[in-house]
Amino acid sequence: TAQTPFTNEPFIDFADPENKRAMQAALLDVESHLNHEYDLIIGGRRLKTKEKIVSTNPARPSQVIGIHQRAEAEHAEEAIQAAQAAFATWSRTPLAERAALLFRAADLIRERKFEFCAWLTLEVGKNWAEADADVGETIDFLEFYGREALRLDQATTPIQFPGERNQLRYIPLGIGAVIPPWNFPFAIMAGMTAASIVCGNTVILKPSVDAPTIAARFMSLLEEVGLPDGVVNLCVGEGPGFGSEVVAHPQTRFIAFTGSKAVGLEIHERAAKTQPGQVFIKRTILEMGGKDSIIVDGDCDVDAAIEGVVASAFGFNGQKCSACSRAIVDAAIYDIFCDRLQARVATIKTGDPAENVYTGPVISERSYKKVLGYIEIGKSEGRLLNGGHAIETPDGGYYIAPTVIADVAPTARIAQEEIFGPVLAVIKSTSFDEALAIANNTEYGLTGAIYSSSREKLDRAREEFHVGNLYLNRKCTGAMVGAHPFGGFNMSGTDSKAGGPDYLLLFTQAKSIAEKV
Ligand code: NAD
Ligand code: ALA
Repeated sequence: TAQTPFTNEPFIDFADPENKRAMQAALLDVESHLNHEYDLIIGGRRLKTKEKIVSTNPARPSQVIGIHQRAEAEHAEEAIQAAQAAFATWSRTPLAERAALLFRAADLIRERKFEFCAWLTLEVGKNWAEADADVGETIDFLEFYGREALRLDQATTPIQFPGERNQLRYIPLGIGAVIPPWNFPFAIMAGMTAASIVCGNTVILKPSVDAPTIAARFMSLLEEVGLPDGVVNLCVGEGPGFGSEVVAHPQTRFIAFTGSKAVGLEIHERAAKTQPGQVFIKRTILEMGGKDSIIVDGDCDVDAAIEGVVASAFGFNGQKCSACSRAIVDAAIYDIFCDRLQARVATIKTGDPAENVYTGPVISERSYKKVLGYIEIGKSEGRLLNGGHAIETPDGGYYIAPTVIADVAPTARIAQEEIFGPVLAVIKSTSFDEALAIANNTEYGLTGAIYSSSREKLDRAREEFHVGNLYLNRKCTGAMVGAHPFGGFNMSGTDSKAGGPDYLLLFTQAKSIAEKV
């Protein structure tokens, strides 16, 4: 595979009856594999614990997706020692072999695409296209990082000093903690793991308790393609307790985290505290939340802007760090925009993602309560255009109607705080300068978009819209590996640019070697 250039995995066309049938069959098949009990896997050993973590379907919370052992703080030591033992051999395993493991994993996922889509639909409530995008991105990360590692291995010093042979080698860091979020439970989980191990590191993988089954399925796929024991140690566990213990451990060399701002900052502080016996400064790769805006300029194609805003705000229910949660709309078209947006959002269907309905449930009861709480705040901060309430179903799924609140002040809470649900605030701007100022007025800086037909304004946005991922005349979600290296500014994180040419540098340290000739 390494011989062929990287290309993004194509999306599945579910309008094709054959693909539709395949997805329905995969859902049925996966439903016959629910309720399975998964072990902790430490150094290749299977471990059971007394306490369990039970993963359920957010569309039908009584349906158990998987039962997982629950790693506690005391498992951290064992997991670290297993990773340390494996590091001795894995770090010296030829890079070509490590990359080949990623390519084999990608091939196998490609063969079982519908099956993985079905797990995502059932465990986190993704509709078919959203599930496919997550699976496709997983394949892309594996293919991309495999090739990137091989490229990095060919690095040379920019200059050869006369009379010497100069070499630059990117060597692994050591033991890493991989701590992914639940919302891209396959792509981000597998991506951070793959980047770590292809560079020769070994890891403790601690998936989110909201999506542990997909991680366990990935782990078993890695074993199937020949992952040596101890290279990835799968420990499902809570963040506080197990996660924080691994972060604090003196042998943990790096932490690759994606999740909320609060947890990212907590990890940053904990990792900064030097422990007795620790001989390095820990590296943290922290990708965090967003409060992303789309600027809708007075001279844009309003219908295109509405489609972009709707896809960005309500795709996967707004449960993306990249989701548009603020539309900043020019006063000249504000009323037309609000009217057409309201009509468009009213057409969005909400229901069981297994039946491929556009928006499904939010992830958990906790999230459901949080989002509904923000909706109440929003009602007092603006004018409700759509939604504003939960949707009750016999199965007790965590459904919330797509909600739009207009006339929101730029400093209102729903314009500033990450809600992570199907809630969009519409803010009026009276000039392009003001629109840019509003777009930049949060503590975050992850994604953003602008719809305009003015070259001058688009160019100003390139310079002045301060986000890690900026999109011109398109939606602000759906970054593609390689084309849109992903990561944010300010409180959105360390701007690690996953899926970009600099990402693997974060998982390595460079050794410069000069030999007199
Ligand atoms: P979260 O911060 O609640 O949890 C993320 C991970 O951290 C989980 O595995 C969790 O168990 C773990 N964790 C929690 N407390 C911990 C602690 N004290 N020590 C160590 N680990 C701990 O986030 P989430 O709800 O899973 O995901 C949603 C968040 O992730 C949103 O804020 C979203 O914007 C963000 N996100 C960011 C990106 C990005 O690339 N910037 C991508 C996806 C999601
Ligand atoms: N990478 C994901 C997106 O761009 C979060 O939507």
